[in-house]
Amino acid sequence: MDTGCKKDELDTPCLVLDLDKLDRNIELVHGAVDAQGKQVRPHAKTHKCSRLARRQVEAGAVGVCVAKVSEAEALIEAGLTGILITGPQATRRKVEQVVALWHRSPDLLLVVDDMSAARLLSGAVSTVGVSAGVLVDVDVGLERTGVRLEQVSDFALAVDALPGLSVRGIQAYAGHLQHVLAFSERRSKSLSCLRGAAEAFMRVKTVVPTCDIFSGSGTGTVDIDIGIPELTELQPGSYVFMDAEYAVVESLAGGPMSDRLLPALTLLTSVVSANHDGHVTVDAGLKSLYRHGGTPRVLRPGGLVYDWFGDEYGRVTAEAGYGLPVPGAVLELMVSHCDPTVNLFDCYHVCRGDTVVGTWPIDLRGCCR
Ligand SMILES: Cc1ncc(COP(=O)(O)O)c(C=O)c1O
Repeated sequence: MDTGCKKDELDTPCLVLDLDKLDRNIELVHGAVDAQGKQVRPHAKTHKCSRLARRQVEAGAVGVCVAKVSEAEALIEAGLTGILITGPQATRRKVEQVVALWHRSPDLLLVVDDMSAARLLSGAVSTVGVSAGVLVDVDVGLERTGVRLEQVSDFALAVDALPGLSVRGIQAYAGHLQHVLAFSERRSKSLSCLRGAAEAFMRVKTVVPTCDIFSGSGTGTVDIDIGIPELTELQPGSYVFMDAEYAVVESLAGGPMSDRLLPALTLLTSVVSANHDGHVTVDAGLKSLYRHGGTPRVLRPGGLVYDWFGDEYGRVTAEAGYGLPVPGAVLELMVSHCDPTVNLFDCYHVCRGDTVVGTWPIDLRGCCR
């Protein structure tokens, strides 16, 4: 219905996806990874969209990562393969769901970080005669999930010995380092924490012959981690969109990350009320802009500042020398934190320049199980 209209004619608040910027971000990161002889398995938790996942695969990705089993279900339903579930599963219910997915998608990978959960998985897998590929999740300092570094080889060996399970490699995600502002500090921290994981990977390889995947990294460290010889694949997510949290992080080139990776994802919001001298009210609040990780940036018109103003509204003020917009005016914002903001919407309005060329459903929206 919106196809062919100008993006400022869209109903607001809404998410807009600039196809040229998206493709440029994908090309840049996939090209850099490929040039190092490595593979990219982008994280689909960022965009929650099977159309976009397919575009990443068409641009050379070996598959995609997901955080949750329900996201994997939706992507497999949409026909995608090469899926890695990056979060460990520990309940019988979840384990049964993953085993059912292995039936439909034999190259599905799941991380494990606990022996009793691995036994549960092995028991479920054995009863249906499926051979399941797993990666040992390694904790490299985030302390969220993962086996401690010193336990990785013993754990891998024990998991690999369980019926139906085959250890295909390790995963090490340094989430605590992705937004370290200074590039040199981020570089030294990422290299030093992934060094331990690289050594553990080499040790596991000597005892488990099927171990050939070392997966890790994110948007903040992808340009750094591609230089780690042992790392075989990278799993950045936010690189497709950019957001206000990443925009201020220093890139490899020395400038802001948003100069290197373009803001392909933006949010449009309209002024709905302007009865005060110092501010106007817009129609995007907490229910359309997630309040975490960076303040949304008003990209257009210039000189305006956004702040949340309750569930449904935002408060927009003007910097010195700039005027406030009038009711009906449309503002374009770089979102705070892209992943949870995306989860608030049903679709992307896909644009080339100022023209809407299509609508992509956010079909993994709400897949939080
Ligand atoms: C395990 C894992 N890998 C990769 C990523 C991608 O990170 P980013 O969006 O910063 O690129 C995430 C994001 O939280 C993650 O949890």
